[in-house]
Amino acid sequence: MTSIDKLLAAMTLEEKLGQLTMAAAGHAVTGPVLAAGVKKNIRAGRIGSLLNLWGAPAVNALQKIAVEKTRLGVPLLVANDVLHGHRTVFPIPLAEAATFDPALWQRSASEAAAEAAADGVAMTFAPMIDIARDPRWGRIAESPGEDPWVGARFAEAKIRGFQGAGLSGGLANTQAVAATAKHFCAYGAALAGRDYASVDVSERLLHEVYLPPFTAAVAAGCAAIMPAFNDVAGIPMTVHVPLLRDWLRRDRGFEGVIVSDYNAIAELLRHGVAADLVEASAAALAAGVDIDMMSGAYAQGLPAALARGLVSVNLIDAAVRRVLTLKERLGLFNNPFGRGSTTSAGAPLPQVRRALARELGRRAIVVLKNDYILPLSPSLRRIALIGPLADARAEMLGPWASAGSTGDAVTIREGLAAALPGSQIDYAPGVEITGTDVSGIVAARECCRRAEVIVLCLGEAAHMSGEAASRANPGLPGAQAALADAIFDLAKPVVLVLFSGRPLMVATVAEKARAVLAAWFLGVEAGHAIADVLTGKFNPTGRLPVTWPRDVGQVPVYFSVRQSGRPAAPNDRYTSKYLDMPVEPLYYFGHGLSYSRFVLSNLRADKSEFRSGNQLTIEVDAVNEGPSFGEETVFLFVRDPVASVARPLLELKGVGKIALRAGEGGTVRFDLAADDFCFLGNDWKPILEPGEFLLFAGTSANPRDLLSLKLCALPN
Ligand code: BGC
Repeated sequence: MTSIDKLLAAMTLEEKLGQLTMAAAGHAVTGPVLAAGVKKNIRAGRIGSLLNLWGAPAVNALQKIAVEKTRLGVPLLVANDVLHGHRTVFPIPLAEAATFDPALWQRSASEAAAEAAADGVAMTFAPMIDIARDPRWGRIAESPGEDPWVGARFAEAKIRGFQGAGLSGGLANTQAVAATAKHFCAYGAALAGRDYASVDVSERLLHEVYLPPFTAAVAAGCAAIMPAFNDVAGIPMTVHVPLLRDWLRRDRGFEGVIVSDYNAIAELLRHGVAADLVEASAAALAAGVDIDMMSGAYAQGLPAALARGLVSVNLIDAAVRRVLTLKERLGLFNNPFGRGSTTSAGAPLPQVRRALARELGRRAIVVLKNDYILPLSPSLRRIALIGPLADARAEMLGPWASAGSTGDAVTIREGLAAALPGSQIDYAPGVEITGTDVSGIVAARECCRRAEVIVLCLGEAAHMSGEAASRANPGLPGAQAALADAIFDLAKPVVLVLFSGRPLMVATVAEKARAVLAAWFLGVEAGHAIADVLTGKFNPTGRLPVTWPRDVGQVPVYFSVRQSGRPAAPNDRYTSKYLDMPVEPLYYFGHGLSYSRFVLSNLRADKSEFRSGNQLTIEVDAVNEGPSFGEETVFLFVRDPVASVARPLLELKGVGKIALRAGEGGTVRFDLAADDFCFLGNDWKPILEPGEFLLFAGTSANPRDLLSLKLCALPN
C-alpha cells in the first residue's frame, strides 16, 4: 500500500470532498483578509486547496493549520494566477509571444515560479494557451496569439519553466510550481468576442487549431488543466465528456489534475444542463473534473449524488488520488513549508529580474511602422511627450499583475528622461484614457510647439484587456482620437506608442504617424524598454503573434485561412472581399520592423522529394543590408495545394532567428519531418497525401514577401 492508498483508506467522505474543494483565501495589499470560515473549514478538513493567496507568513499560517491541526495532516495546495510574473511583472503573454523566443518564455516562467514559490505558492493557473483570433475578446492579452504552432511551443516552454525543468527534483523543487494549462478549450472562439459566450466551432477547427497547444502541454508533463467557462456546441467544457474524459484523459493519457474554472460547476445550472448542484457536481466529476474551484458544488452536491447513484465512490476516490498525487509530486507532504521559506514583501525587486523584464520588454515591442524617424537622434533638443499613457505608472503592469506593485513600474516619461539626458522632454497628458473631457488638448498642443518630435502615447487602460474586458469597438478609447487629430494638425513628426492588450483599430491614426510602436503592457520595465527601442539602444526584434486588423469589421482575420473558390480579385466583383475596405489586414502576422534591413534569398531543401518517415533540412539565406547589427525572424510555412480536404494557404511550421552585423550574411536552418506535411484525416489521425507541396519563407505572413519552393511527397 502506498502512502496515498493509506490516506485514502483513512478518509471520511467529507475529508475526500475537502481535497476536491478549492476556496479563495482573499487577499489585500496590507495582508490576507480571511473569511472567518476558511480557517475553520481547513481545520475540519473541508478545504484542500486555496487560491488568491501569497506571502510566506499568510500561507504558512494556513498550512500550519492543515498540517498540524487536521485529523490527517494533508497539506494545502496554494494556487495563484501567475500569468506574466509574480512580484516582478513581465510583459503580458501576447507581448511575450511577440519575442518568438521559447528560451525567454521559459526563463520568465521559471523566474516567476521562483518568486511565487518563495511567497508560498505551489500552483499557477498558467499558461493560458487559448488561440485567439478576435481582438474584441479581452483575453487575447493573456494568450500567445492566433497560431496553434506558436501556442504549442509557448505551452511547452512555459510548462518547463514553471515546473522546474533543469532544477533538481523538478516539480518537487521548492522553486517550482505546478502549471495549469487553460482554458480547455476553444475559449478564444467566444461568440462575437464576448467573454464567457457560447462557442460553436467545427470539429476540424477544434483539432487543427484549438487542441494542439493542449496536446503539447500534456506531452510537456503539465500538472493540471482547467476546462474553460464556455460550452462547445451546447456542452459546457466543465462537463464535456468527449473532450475531457475521452480526448484528454483516454487519448492523450493525461493523468494530472483537472481543476474547474472559478465557480464553473455551479454555473452549469445557468448553462441549462443541470437542474441543481447534485446534477452539476455529478456531471463534472463524471467528466473528470477533480477540483471544484469556488462553487462548493462538490461538497454540497456529491453526497446526494452518491445517494442517488449518480456517481460512485470509486470516481470520487480517483479524483482525490489525483489531487494527493499532485501534492506528493510537489513535495508538499515531505516539506509543506519549503515554498514560502522567505518573504520578499516590500523588498526591492532583484536586479536580475528587472534586467530580464527589460530584455523581454524591448524584445516584445513591435515597430509597426517607421517612416525614417526612428531611432530618435540623441541630439534632439526638445521632445514633446503627449498622451494619457505617457506617465501612467499603474497601467504599465497590465491586466494580470499578480503580486506586482505599481510603485515598481517605470513609465515611458521616466524611461525617456533617463535615456536622453541631453534632451528636454515636455509632457502633457492631453486627455484621460477614457472620458470625454477635451479641455487638456490646448495645453498638449502648446507643449508641442517647440518640439522637434512628438511621442504620442495612446491606448487602453490595463483593465480594458483581460478577463471580462471584451470591447465591441477596440479602438482608441475616450477622447484620444480627438487628441491625436489635434496633434497631427500641428504637422510635426509624430511617433505613436500604442499601449494595449490586443491589436487596436487605429488605421487612420497610424496612417498619419511617422512611426508606430505596439508597446502592449510591458510590466515593471516598460519605460526603459520603450526608450531602448525609441533611441536605438536596442534594435527592435518584436514580431506580431497576431494579425492586426484594419477595422473590427474584418474580424476574425488571421493568416491561416483557406482560399475559397472565389479568392479576392480586384476587378471581379463576385470574389471574396468587401465593398468598403480591403481584405488585407493593417499588419500581417509576423510583421515587425528592425532598424536593419534584411534580405532573404535562396530558399532550398536538401531533397525535392520525400516520403513518410523522412527528415528534411530547409535553408534560407539572409543578409543584413542595414547600417547596424540586428536580428531577423524568419517564418517557415507549408501549403498543400491539392488535398482531399482544402488546406489553409499557409500553415506555420517553424520560426528561425538570425543575428547579423551590418553587411553580414548567414543561413537560417529549419528541420522538418515528413509528419509536418500531414493533415488530419476524417478520423483525426495525421495523413500524408502524396503530391505537390509548397514551402514558403518570409519575415511575415504577407504573401507579397514570401519566397517559395516546390516539394513532392511520394507514395510510400
Ligand atoms: C479565470 C481563470 C482564473 C481563475 C482564478 C477565472 O475567472 O477565468 O483564468 O485562473 O479565475 O483566478
